[in-house]
Amino acid sequence: MRRAGGLCPPAPAVALSLVAVFLLACAAEPPATEPVARGRQVYQALRCSSCHEPNLFGQRVGPPLDHIGTIAATRRPGMSAEDYVRESVLDPGAYVVPGYQDSMPRGLGRDLSPTDLDALVAYLASLK
Ligand code: HEC
Repeated sequence: MRRAGGLCPPAPAVALSLVAVFLLACAAEPPATEPVARGRQVYQALRCSSCHEPNLFGQRVGPPLDHIGTIAATRRPGMSAEDYVRESVLDPGAYVVPGYQDSMPRGLGRDLSPTDLDALVAYLASLK
């Protein structure tokens, strides 16, 4: 006997599309609450990696940040790692890393909430 309503998609197809819709809706990570995890999300959202990680040709515009938590404490006498990375984001020209151009964009931290700025600083400072 022919199935009535031959235009309806078969049940498995309906189920699969529901799964696809569910995956699409849930793909965007919810904001993390733990500061270092949240800071990593902020770092990704602001695309800091576009300059601080190698491009397709293996070149980078800015210095690597893999150990910035350790390096930051040595950059400016009397300045903690946290203070230095905060300054680097808010006022990039205040200290220019030797061998690099003073080309980090201004205003990257301008639109961040205080919580997200703190989280970004905590994330960078955690990269020992
Ligand atoms: C357009 C390229 C570019 C982008 C985007 C960029 N930076 Fe930079 N950044 C640089 C350059 C070039 C330097 C080195 C010159 C200087 O010290 O200003 C630098 C320096 C730094 C330093 C100091 C590193 C050290 O070794 O002392 C930190 C920290 C830093 N950036 C963090 C960030 C963060 C966080 C973001 C995203 C919010 C970001 N940068 C986005 C280009 C960029």
